Amino acid sequence: MYFDTHAHYDSSHFDADRHELLASMPDAGVDCIIDPGCDEASSRAAIALAERYPFVYAAVGWQPEEWESWDCGSEALVRELARHPKCVAIGEIGLDYYWDKEEEVQKNQRIWFRRQLELAKESNLPVIIHSRDAAADTMEIMKEAYVQGIKGVIHCFSYSKEQAQEYVKMGYYIGVGGVATFKNAKKLKEVIETIPLEKILLETDCPYMAPEPYRGKRNSSLYLPYVVEKIAGLKGVTAKEVEEVTYRNAEQLFLGK
Ligand code: NI
Repeated sequence: MYFDTHAHYDSSHFDADRHELLASMPDAGVDCIIDPGCDEASSRAAIALAERYPFVYAAVGWQPEEWESWDCGSEALVRELARHPKCVAIGEIGLDYYWDKEEEVQKNQRIWFRRQLELAKESNLPVIIHSRDAAADTMEIMKEAYVQGIKGVIHCFSYSKEQAQEYVKMGYYIGVGGVATFKNAKKLKEVIETIPLEKILLETDCPYMAPEPYRGKRNSSLYLPYVVEKIAGLKGVTAKEVEEVTYRNAEQLFLGK
């Protein structure tokens, strides 16, 4: 049983075979999938997929690179979509300074990030955090979120083990996907060794981030066993234990079980 906590099946990369692929998931042992939104269109598409498949759930929100399309109606829209019974989180939201180096742009990203954290608080939903090249600012804002009692996951974690430990201390989960299988992923492997399995969530971020031996190809939840095997090796436990514990972790955070 696999719980893919981050999969973009609304992406155009799946247009040719989306429904065959999703329909094959239960037989492949993929019992739960969360499709996070990145803007209005993908948030709506995530909800539509969640309505069609009992094992698909949606998250809604604006990711930082999409900040330019955030307008005066966006906040009300996220609030409305978040009320859908199959919306289990606000996300993905956060900061991405990799492409946006201008201080003005980064300031806007922080404004929309904080605004969406408030929406999560108001909707009583956890958050899915996207953070790239923005370690210090993300930590500062997530400390505020922690004080507010907002739960969540730092998805596709790319920072140090010390940062991971700080998030774990606040109760946040760390999202681990295909990068764990890459030869050069020394930092992430240290993170996996350092934090308890009870704080790790499985994710693909598909269509991106396919694990070895499929690196560079289109990813899907069907490749999660490669990630599980890598985590099991690093933690010195069985693959089955990784599957079960990460499944329970995701159920607790997103499905309130
Ligand atoms: Ni994503």
